[in-house]
Amino acid sequence: MIKMTEYAQRRKQLMKHLGTQGLVIIPAAPMANRSNDTFYPYRQHSDFYYLTGFAEPEAVLVLAPKRAAGEFVLFCRPRERAKEQWEGLRTGQDGARKKFGANQALPIADLAKHLPDLLEGREHIHCTLGVNKDFDEILLQAVKQIRGKIRSGLQSPVSFVDITPSIHEMRLCKSPAEIALIRKAIDISTHAHLRAMQLCKPGIYEYQLEAELLHEFYRQGARYPSYTSIVGSGANSCILHYVDNDQKINHRDLVLIDAGAEYQMYAADLTRTFPANGKFSAEQRAIYEIVLASQLAAIKTIKPGIAWPVMQQAIVKVITEGLLDVGLLKGNLKKLLETQAYLPFYMHKSGHWLGLDVHDMGRYKVQGKWRTLRPGMVFTVEPGIYISADIPHVPKRWHNIGIRIEDDVVVTKTGCEVLSKNLPKTVADIEAVMAG
Ligand code: GLY
Ligand code: MN
Ligand code: MN
Repeated sequence: MIKMTEYAQRRKQLMKHLGTQGLVIIPAAPMANRSNDTFYPYRQHSDFYYLTGFAEPEAVLVLAPKRAAGEFVLFCRPRERAKEQWEGLRTGQDGARKKFGANQALPIADLAKHLPDLLEGREHIHCTLGVNKDFDEILLQAVKQIRGKIRSGLQSPVSFVDITPSIHEMRLCKSPAEIALIRKAIDISTHAHLRAMQLCKPGIYEYQLEAELLHEFYRQGARYPSYTSIVGSGANSCILHYVDNDQKINHRDLVLIDAGAEYQMYAADLTRTFPANGKFSAEQRAIYEIVLASQLAAIKTIKPGIAWPVMQQAIVKVITEGLLDVGLLKGNLKKLLETQAYLPFYMHKSGHWLGLDVHDMGRYKVQGKWRTLRPGMVFTVEPGIYISADIPHVPKRWHNIGIRIEDDVVVTKTGCEVLSKNLPKTVADIEAVMAG
């Protein structure tokens, strides 16, 4: 759990750069309609959550440095017996103050009424335009109202600044409490992957393995996956974000599972690939060993100060060497690397930041230069080789071998820790798990 003091610390840090002329205003994520009067499960916007810990919809956060009536204002839904009877309990204004530390809490229905007062005299509005269109409209209307009264001495804002890069910069290095939650999400996901590996047998359907993953997520208190689970067998293992999950798994297929639980808003993102019948064929094994070697080579490079693309460079070198060894690429290693001859087989990057979002926020390049790693950064390392049947000049025995191995790591002072180290990934360990 993340303590309220940590959220308060984050708000304080964000406000540091604002000066007294600035103001932060951020809406909660809108609810997403599914059909008629039913909605998709609500998930708070990660930036809003990062600054408040507040998970309810219909809320707006305002940070107004040095404001006499309070710097942290939370607009939220009021307690309302009749609504709560149908939809569940609400925090309400009292709760927003007592449990979430708001200096002032106001009913969301009064937002338009209060906004002009809050904005007046603030030169720079730091906001997240585009997250919630209804809110954007209310904000712009409030500014218009102030502009209409400048002859009475009111001062309207002179700039709208995108606050998201500042928040995302803060989100990039995880605190110990955040890492603990990511560990928990990974731990649950590890059990889920193991369960799917153990229960896989030729003849079942991909969605049946997906059901086993979700069963384990739910059972351990992770109500939602952090993204739609990918369960791809045979040719589907070569489709990077395959989510149909509706095919029968055949005896000689590989099964690629890319699935992670979301636990208390934090994501895991893990991929393992295994043979449906429990034993890798010679070709499957040869490709598997290349992917694994490339992943281990990338992980070995990780330490503070390393530039982001160094991992990808390690991966493409090992993959190109491996494809050359097994005869799927031909020619001179240096030339093949220069011409990116691996691209038909490996067409994505080494990984991505991981946190509140599975593809977590934060820039990879800053002012034209690749970012270098710092302790506390959490990301995935997920090389793969995908031999679709339509790649030219590939003998049939290699077709439909799609392999990705994805782990989650945290940068430490001297290197990194593989947070998902408990999920087996060598050929021998996977075959042992599948043999029960
Ligand atoms: N699960 C999506 C990814 O691995 O990036
Ligand atoms: Mn993944
Ligand atoms: Mn990933």
